[in-house]
Amino acid sequence: MDENRRDKILSAYEELAESYNRLIDHKPHNAYYDRPNTLSLMSEVEGKSILDAACGPGKYAEVLLAQGAQVTGFDFSPKMVEMAKERNKGAGTFFVHDLAQPLEMLEDNCFDIVLCALALHYLEDWTLTIQEFHRVLKPDGHLVISIEHPFFEFNFFQSTQYYEVEPVQCTWKGFGKPVEVNSFRRPLGSCISSLTDNGFYIDTLLEPKPLAEFEKLDPRHFKELNEFPSFMCLRAVPKKEKLS
Ligand SMILES: C[S@@+](CC[C@H](N)C(=O)[O-])C[C@H]1O[C@@H](n2cnc3c(N)ncnc32)[C@H](O)[C@@H]1O
Repeated sequence: MDENRRDKILSAYEELAESYNRLIDHKPHNAYYDRPNTLSLMSEVEGKSILDAACGPGKYAEVLLAQGAQVTGFDFSPKMVEMAKERNKGAGTFFVHDLAQPLEMLEDNCFDIVLCALALHYLEDWTLTIQEFHRVLKPDGHLVISIEHPFFEFNFFQSTQYYEVEPVQCTWKGFGKPVEVNSFRRPLGSCISSLTDNGFYIDTLLEPKPLAEFEKLDPRHFKELNEFPSFMCLRAVPKKEKLS
């Protein structure tokens, strides 16, 4: 990916980190839409080792640690990692790392679950990242991801090039001062083949609906999300044969 774009994404998250951390517990799209649906794709987590890739301020980790999992998390934003450490008060392990780089610090076959929530759309190419998730997962483990729904993004960004992976940007206004956030939109086929070409079968594809709690906080989006999904959650399992 072009370094300039990566740096823009990183500085946006450094700027967002504090308010993101403050709002994440109850922000409707996270608390009552993404998190419960994504977590529903995990089997029993007690005693399991979980990698939380692009962990943000560690809210997923907090939920998983409370259920008895061992959590290792990373994010490329140093502020997010600091907040994940503070939020989890010494529980879990958190470090700064870029999803686009090899996970050299992690051994093969060491996690029961790899989680990557709402972050893959910041990468232009998922190949190396998915191969690394496959490498660090135990053969009987699973990968759980949530992404922006490709059909939602196609409409939202008013794309005319469905089949392309396109750089896109929008202004987030829900976290205090408006912040410009860059990402990449891609077709559904590219999301699926990035998994199936790199060692995984898709086990479950969930087009989530918001929980009832969402409605009180944001009735307009509650209605919209019951008519058309913004996010998509996937559970994938490693194919039996190892990657060459
Ligand atoms: C929408 S937030 C989601 C955070 C967390 N997964 C959650 O759902 O609460 C996206 C996160 O991805 C991180 N991120 C974006 N690009 C990344 C990259 N290339 N490597 C690591 N983290 C990245 C951001 O810093 C941010 O914390």
